[in-house]
Amino acid sequence: MSSPAIASMYRYRVQRFWKEFDLIKQKQANLTVPDLTSLDQYHYLGTSAVDHAAKILNISDCSQVLDIGSGIGGTSRYLAWKYGCQVTGVELQEQLHQVGMKANEITQMTEQVQLMQGDFTDISNLPISDHSFDSWVSMNVFLHICDRTTLFQNCARVLKPEGRFYIEDYYAAQDLPESDRQALAEIIACPYLPSREQYLEDLEKAGFQNIEFVDMSALWQPWLQERYEKFEAKREYYLALFDVDMVNSYSHFYQTVVNLFSSGNVSGARIYGTN
Ligand SMILES: C[S@@+](CC[C@H](N)C(=O)[O-])C[C@H]1O[C@@H](n2cnc3c(N)ncnc32)[C@H](O)[C@@H]1O
Repeated sequence: MSSPAIASMYRYRVQRFWKEFDLIKQKQANLTVPDLTSLDQYHYLGTSAVDHAAKILNISDCSQVLDIGSGIGGTSRYLAWKYGCQVTGVELQEQLHQVGMKANEITQMTEQVQLMQGDFTDISNLPISDHSFDSWVSMNVFLHICDRTTLFQNCARVLKPEGRFYIEDYYAAQDLPESDRQALAEIIACPYLPSREQYLEDLEKAGFQNIEFVDMSALWQPWLQERYEKFEAKREYYLALFDVDMVNSYSHFYQTVVNLFSSGNVSGARIYGTN
């Protein structure tokens, strides 16, 4: 079940998607996957991050890929469309899952992308077989999940032998002051943040090997700053589309992420390896 913090953080996403989708749809009749990528990638650096993941994971048209925490399916659709693979996405929140299903239909990706609603830490309730995926990808999801032991055990279970994984996520670059912990928990729905060492230890404990941990703050920080500034520059435009609470909520969220990363306490990483 979705926690109140997660539900609160994502409460405006569905509304925003459909409003911005309508604007795209007015200009163009038949939409394909790239037409939605400005709306459906809920991680950083857009589809270039997904291309990087595909390269690391060696994804081809023969690959079976699992997208853990698929949001509205942006990563899943893009991987399937660009690389010809089969993708299964698991998303916790019903409303986001429903948008993902509709977006699959609109872009005619239902054959290649199977989306399911569920909690990945409760895998016994999901129709996912052990050792059934060549690789899994998870973009900006694990920051929402405290129970890393169960999470990484499930991550290990789903991979075939010699399978690969790719994570983009936050980590604590140094001890977090209480104010950062509070902002992470209340605004980002991130109740727990491991250090780099703890992250690696937890992955190794689950049996993962050949792990690379690449700090992303130098690339993420300017991107996050620009995201906030672009949003503020278009404040009037957004106020014409959405109510003031929603605009303020997005602005506050974007600014909080900028502050957390610019403090140097919170950082981001690409983490990948094999089982
Ligand atoms: C920042 S969004 C990223 C979505 C997607 N990976 C993307 O890049 O567009 C994080 C997503 O993880 C989902 N999530 C959080 N905890 C989860 C869990 N235990 N199982 C499945 N999904 C989860 C959230 O509901 C949210 O949609």
